[in-house]
Amino acid sequence: MRRPVVMGNWKLNGSKEMVSNLIKGLDAELSNVEGVEKVTVAVAPPVMYLDLAEKLIAEAKNDIVLGSQNVDLNSNGAYTGDISPDMLKDFGASHIIIGHSERRDYHNESDEFIAKKFAFLKEKGLTPVFCIGESEAQNEAGETVAVLTRQVNAVIDAVGVEALEGAVIAYEPIWAIGTGKAATADDAQATHAAIRAHIASFSADVAEKVVIQYGGSVKPENAEAYFAQPDIDGALVGGAALDAASFAGIVKAAADLQK
Ligand code: PGA
Repeated sequence: MRRPVVMGNWKLNGSKEMVSNLIKGLDAELSNVEGVEKVTVAVAPPVMYLDLAEKLIAEAKNDIVLGSQNVDLNSNGAYTGDISPDMLKDFGASHIIIGHSERRDYHNESDEFIAKKFAFLKEKGLTPVFCIGESEAQNEAGETVAVLTRQVNAVIDAVGVEALEGAVIAYEPIWAIGTGKAATADDAQATHAAIRAHIASFSADVAEKVVIQYGGSVKPENAEAYFAQPDIDGALVGGAALDAASFAGIVKAAADLQK
């Protein structure tokens, strides 16, 4: 049985006040939620706020895992503006998003570059939250599985299929991110099953264990339909993670199915 991971990707949003309200609000919303202990709940604030978030999480009654949204390929040195895995660890961040389509698009991050980040996070004992996804045009051209396979293969080629064990994959169709146009639960399930089958062609054991989240316009209203699918193991949540009650509603949908 895979443990679902529900993670909030706050993107470029936040202030000290917002971080404080959101983490305290989430903690309050999660009190007495049956089954919540069987769900990994994670938040990835902008890196500026990791220090504050770490302190707030330490005071929280519920287990909230700290994450981050990016990482550099170097540990230290002359790399202006970059953040290393050791720095993220220093602030208690463990679940690190890599390969998000916004970084692939706006920062020209390639499959190979992202695979290097994956390898570096694993080497440092951190958990990659490895995003994959197809564009609308690729989806309409029937290329979805081919695109996802290529993205996953970049990691398998770089570090071997075993490295996926303990990692998180986030399937995020690009056309569903921030658009309100979510994939149907059935379509998402079919795609998740295809990703898992592809991984199983390398290792059935790893495929069985790897967590595959869905991401793209997940809301409290549609979350349960995703989580009820056999191959969907949680969600990576953008917009709805910026409101404590909404994000908690998504966590509750996952917890309900774990009772
Ligand atoms: P969204 O974003 O929930 O706002 O669609 C998801 C993501 O980009 O991780």
